[in-house]
Amino acid sequence: MHQLGRAACVLFIAVIAALGCGGPHPHETEEPSLLLVESGRANFERYCVSCHGTGGRGDGPVAGSLTPPPADLTRIAARRGGVFPAAEIAAYVDGRTDVSAHGSRSMPVWGRRFGAPIAPDSTAEEAVRGHLLVLVEYLKTLQRE
Ligand code: HEC
Repeated sequence: MHQLGRAACVLFIAVIAALGCGGPHPHETEEPSLLLVESGRANFERYCVSCHGTGGRGDGPVAGSLTPPPADLTRIAARRGGVFPAAEIAAYVDGRTDVSAHGSRSMPVWGRRFGAPIAPDSTAEEAVRGHLLVLVEYLKTLQRE
């Protein structure tokens, strides 16, 4: 009986230790998303500002020559009743499945561009997904009413 109690006690301590040390620390859960957003910002500055502007409002240097004009990316959610549809936006930016549906579009087909420098295998597809993921995380932070 005494032995059993001891075993249960050891087990209990092991569980507490696992929960206490193995679980994510509060400050660590914030970091990955911050990294994604920072990476997304770098992508945005490199690929998107010429049309959408540094603040994403659709007022980049070449915006004036485009019909339709570049979308205001700070109001993606506002245009959809406050909902930010991450998967839909990623697919739109990707553009590879969208081209025929909307006829011509002034926006480059980013899914093709991001994959282009890499041989067309699964690695290229992962690179495309990585770009889209961080860009969408960044776009979320730009949303306003
Ligand atoms: C050559 C100009 C140009 C560049 C560069 C560009 N876009 Fe666009 N974007 C547009 C135009 C124009 C539209 C409006 C619809 C259309 O014609 O495709 C648009 C629309 C969008 C939309 C749709 C918004 C909505 O509410 O549906 C998103 C999202 C978007 N762009 C994201 C991006 C991202 C992210 C990048 C950088 C990777 C980027 N754009 C680079 C021109 C551009």
